[in-house]
Amino acid sequence: MSGGTALVQGASRGIGLQFCRYLVLSRYEINVIATCRNPEAATELQEFQREYPKALRIMKMDVTRGPDIQHTAEKVKEEFGSLDLLINSSAMLHPSGKGETSLREVTAEDLSLTIATNTIGPLMMAKYFAPLLLRGTGAFGAEASDKSRQHRAILVNMSAKVGSIEDNALGGWYSYRLSKAALNMVTKNLSIELGRGKNKVICVSLHPGSVDTNLSRPYHKNIQREKLFTTEQSVFCLMNIIETLNLDKTGKFFSWNGSELPW
Ligand SMILES: NC(=O)c1ccc[n+]([C@@H]2O[C@H](COP(=O)([O-])OP(=O)(O)OC[C@H]3O[C@@H](n4cnc5c(N)ncnc54)[C@H](OP(=O)(O)O)[C@@H]3O)[C@@H](O)[C@H]2O)c1
Repeated sequence: MSGGTALVQGASRGIGLQFCRYLVLSRYEINVIATCRNPEAATELQEFQREYPKALRIMKMDVTRGPDIQHTAEKVKEEFGSLDLLINSSAMLHPSGKGETSLREVTAEDLSLTIATNTIGPLMMAKYFAPLLLRGTGAFGAEASDKSRQHRAILVNMSAKVGSIEDNALGGWYSYRLSKAALNMVTKNLSIELGRGKNKVICVSLHPGSVDTNLSRPYHKNIQREKLFTTEQSVFCLMNIIETLNLDKTGKFFSWNGSELPW
């Protein structure tokens, strides 16, 4: 496969970093824009960029800062003109690194910080990047046999199964669960607004499985080894989903294995 312009938001490490690697290594002549809030500290991303300087561009952006997002969107517009794939990957479990186990641990401040990163950030990304996505070339996803059903671009919000209200049997993790449930509403709303006009953008929420990254590290001991994916395994599965998306699948929530999750 070849061509296309993709932006991975939250690319310093973990799943976001692996998306950048996969995209650069799997396509000829791709442009990948990797955004992160502190590029100097993102040493693995920097090393990879040095290996593939033509395909990978790093931009500094904090997803909790609206002006940063707006400025980055302007730069991407100037340099690339349009965008074919946007992946919102950044998130935090909780400012402490561990989810709340009971109401006693809930604070308004922690909740606000978590929602700012996990929910408001991706929504602001959509706001400023939608014009670029609506001008996309349809380089990612499945090609539609009926040209009037062909999408221009794909927007992916990295969500989590624990954000599913229907699937919630355990409780706890108030900030994270709530931020991802609200992010899923963002996805659904975006799919409606960006699916209305002549040019359409597919919008989905994806669950990557339990993945061996910093975010889930405090809980790895509770997960069976074979159920804890490497970032390579997870991103391979997620890209298979992305590459088969069409407009019939917009506004949905998919797990790593392609199954649809309940909201
Ligand atoms: N790992 C899992 O088991 C799992 C399960 C379900 C869902 N997910 C979801 O998958 C996505 C990726 O998570 P991960 O496992 O790769 O986590 P991770 O390794 O902890 O990476 C989190 C990323 O978010 C970035 N970030 C945090 N706050 C930010 C901000 N204000 N501005 C910009 N970037 C910010 C971090 O950047 P810094 O390096 O600057 O901190 C880092 O790049 C998340 O949406 C997560 O909720 C993960």
